[in-house]
Amino acid sequence: MTDGSAPSEPPADIDIADAGRYANGIGWDDFRTLRAQPGLHWNRYNGHGFWAVTRHADVCEVSRHSERFSSAIGHVNLWDLEADALEARRSILEHDPPAHTRLRRVVSKAFTPRQMRRYTERTRAIADDLLDAVVERGGGDWVELVAAPLPIRVIIAILGVPPEDADYMVELSNHLVEGTTETQSLPPDSYGNTTPLRLLPFGSPAAWGLYEYGAKLGDERLEHPADDVVSHLVHAEVGGDRLTATEFRNFFQVLVFGGNETTRTAITHGTMAFAEHPEQWDRLAANRELLASAVEEVIRWASPILHMRRTAAVDTELAGTQISAGDKVVMWYPSANRDEAVFERPDEFDIGRADNAQIAFGGGGPHFCLGAYLARMELTVLLEAMLDRGIRPASVADLVRIPSNFVHGVASVEVTVDVDAAVAESSAAVRA
Ligand code: HEM
Repeated sequence: MTDGSAPSEPPADIDIADAGRYANGIGWDDFRTLRAQPGLHWNRYNGHGFWAVTRHADVCEVSRHSERFSSAIGHVNLWDLEADALEARRSILEHDPPAHTRLRRVVSKAFTPRQMRRYTERTRAIADDLLDAVVERGGGDWVELVAAPLPIRVIIAILGVPPEDADYMVELSNHLVEGTTETQSLPPDSYGNTTPLRLLPFGSPAAWGLYEYGAKLGDERLEHPADDVVSHLVHAEVGGDRLTATEFRNFFQVLVFGGNETTRTAITHGTMAFAEHPEQWDRLAANRELLASAVEEVIRWASPILHMRRTAAVDTELAGTQISAGDKVVMWYPSANRDEAVFERPDEFDIGRADNAQIAFGGGGPHFCLGAYLARMELTVLLEAMLDRGIRPASVADLVRIPSNFVHGVASVEVTVDVDAAVAESSAAVRA
């Protein structure tokens, strides 16, 4: 590792991998400092370190060049895994083309905008059901009442998991997030796990619970196919062969986790942002045509995933910095989403941004988020349901964050709402 950029100022000694640094939210000043530095920042980590990619253009370049920045060598989180653990845990995220292309083809058809439109009505019914409880209480913990249950109920409907198991999926997914923090509350043998934790995603026995659940459901759908993604996965033939049992269970785990944790975070930060910027809610209420740009801004603002890692496959160069084969290269999405070279007034929540170039779903390339249309659909439907029903996020209190360097997570937050009964009545009349 050599830094060819020879900065005139000594580089900032900032540790953006320190999970404790996120206890009070993202350190925006740290990232601003790093973006302004020439070249890439070498962040010490676990006795060695990684190149921190914090500018928008650089994140896009890494994302789009898997031949230089590999997802298959090493893994996509910061820490290294032993070879057997990497093999056992390898999901779609830890492949490069062409192996990645094969896996991606299996699922991509199930997540197109057209497919997602099939779930709009069901999503609206789920949102209405959750908002009924919010209205009844005048608010409450937004994570528990809306942000956690909405995405999980939608993704399990798409996957084909029975609705009565929604809470179990949320529980398992919460434990997986815990695996990215310093505290793990689960004993290693939870959920009947007998596998060494290092072989499980996020080192969590909850991953075993998900594997087991997915395998059972997969077996069931192999015998009795239904119109759902699990049936599609177990029956799909790609290039003449089926997914292996390991490929299937890792897919199932990624879809439950990816479909749950991230959208939950976007809903939570988005709602908080509207409560804290009431003029933006008024603007949206008065101009429904801003819905699409509002959703993009919510996603930019929330930046639910903090980073993804690649590993240099060859000696290469980025932003004037020499990178050696084997070096870790880590993309920091929240920083890219506040890059002043791309966004005017990046620290302002502005739902009217034209051509919002947010890259919370990744900077393009083969791994661009499979669930991007789904997440956008869920956010659109939720905001629309709130507008139709005259529900306005009014105040925010008791924010409890998840101290993780991987997700921009919120454990709980009290949100109160004001309800305009006249709006609700007139829009119900229109919808009827
Ligand atoms: C606001 C919500 C979401 C955000 C911010 C988000 C973010 C991301 C990011 C940053 C990546 C990696 C991109 C890369 O490495 O280049 C990713 C990949 C992925 N996401 Fe999402 N995601 C969201 C919602 C979802 C949903 C709802 C699903 C459910 C299907 C999902 C499933 C996936 C999958 C399967 C991948 C791996 C794709 C691949 O490797 O080819 N995501 N997402």
